Amino acid sequence: MAQLVEKPTAAVPRVGKQGDPCVMVIFGAAGDLTARLLIPALYNLSRADLLSKEFAVLGVARSQMTDEDFRKRLLDDVKAYCGDCIQDSHWETFARRFYYYAGDFGDDKLYSQIKDRLTQIDRDHDTHGNVFFYMATAPSFFGSIVEKLAANGLMQQDTDHWRRVIIEKPFGHDLESAKELNQKLLKLVDEKQIYRIDHYLGKETVQNIMALRFANGIFEPIWNRRYIDHIQISVAETVGVESRGSYFDHAGSLRDMVPNHIMQLISLTAMEPPISFDANAVRDEQAKILHAVQPFANQDVLTKTVRGQYGAGTMDGERVPGYRSEEGVPPESRTETFVAIRLLIDNWRWAGVPFYLRTGKRLPARNTHIVIQFRRAPFMLFRETQVETMMPNQLVLNIQPEEGISLRFAAKTPGTTMELGEVNMNFAYADYFGVTPSTGYERLLHDCMIGDATLFQRADMVEAGWRIVDPVLDVWKALPPRDFPNYAAGTWGPKEADELIERDGRRWRNFEQ
Ligand code: BG6
Repeated sequence: MAQLVEKPTAAVPRVGKQGDPCVMVIFGAAGDLTARLLIPALYNLSRADLLSKEFAVLGVARSQMTDEDFRKRLLDDVKAYCGDCIQDSHWETFARRFYYYAGDFGDDKLYSQIKDRLTQIDRDHDTHGNVFFYMATAPSFFGSIVEKLAANGLMQQDTDHWRRVIIEKPFGHDLESAKELNQKLLKLVDEKQIYRIDHYLGKETVQNIMALRFANGIFEPIWNRRYIDHIQISVAETVGVESRGSYFDHAGSLRDMVPNHIMQLISLTAMEPPISFDANAVRDEQAKILHAVQPFANQDVLTKTVRGQYGAGTMDGERVPGYRSEEGVPPESRTETFVAIRLLIDNWRWAGVPFYLRTGKRLPARNTHIVIQFRRAPFMLFRETQVETMMPNQLVLNIQPEEGISLRFAAKTPGTTMELGEVNMNFAYADYFGVTPSTGYERLLHDCMIGDATLFQRADMVEAGWRIVDPVLDVWKALPPRDFPNYAAGTWGPKEADELIERDGRRWRNFEQ
């Protein structure tokens, strides 16, 4: 493949200021998310010297543990997830700032005890009274924990200290429940104190969509319906539901991935240039795109959406079970593990340009990418080449696993006749910037510590995401699928997903690795 980019001689250093002094209180500190993502992210921040020296963690969960047990357990769990990412010498000083308190989230007394514990930690670590609470719990606790925190004065901020809360996804399970949760939270705290997290926004390449579009003069003039034929967004996963069968079976791929992660990718790709990088300026533009998505009428749901569920199949040469045989999944489950959708954005920039989205579990490759396909050249001079077989130009934003950008264009193949072939110009992040250990949560936790909400979801954005998928949820519920399972593990989803795009004379670009 053509490698037309010049590599710098040294890696570009990461930049950023240290987070404010503060305590991070993690509700659900004994769970998976804490060990798999939150603690490794804090550890990476600490290694990069982006944590204040006056920082501490208070873990809260039901299991009885001492501070020392908690530290030991975290170390074991983190090592189980990321192997040798931990350096024992650094861990020791890092983990000294960790404390633990056992309690039941529903128990009012817990909160006055947390208050006392925080006073003690503030005294020991000089955390300036700043606290952020991380809800790494089951979603049913989000509202009630914040309610009890507020009732105990723990969300009260002043000019000399701040209080914030990070809410994990899923934020509601449909539009109505998301609205209810927003109303409840907004009665207790100010919107500015709420950080609704979507870890896709923590990914460097997702943030880079804005850099690509708005820091380069060459793209903006062609970033519209005149030059772009269509956009494809694929979030393909090789994993099945792992140990999350019982959660996933109530959610399904649509709820799990579309109103949140995929809508972030769409809004960043399609938004107008914001007037600044102020949190609200960026989020206003994102929200406008979500509001401009053409609503699905019942009939549209039948023709513009596809759902699938994986059956048994072969992945990497090994047999894997179907979804209905996974742990925690009922044998008759009708939950979808694959979704494909064709949608339109009703504004001047995008009118008539289809956005094709798909996401699924147990697909042949782990790959998240956005394909921007440009229109064909209007007239083909090169008679020796079958024009219809040539793909038009595509700009591909690779979000993961290999982060990068590539542009596909036509070039003359060597020889005495004028024949054309397709070439790719590739830019890989790792070549330029090296690979820094990252979970995607580093940037988001750090942003919360410095009070920058740009990469967090505002109430209206969460609701706008649900408003788009709500009609699909309703129709799918009313018409349960009869053909599940309808794709084998290790394939690119049901054939209807191919038909969805092929009907329009286009086809998915599949990246096999
Ligand atoms: C989570 C979903 O939000 O995102 C999971 O609940 C999914 O089902 C995961 O696997 C995908 O995240 P990533 O970062 O691996 O693409």
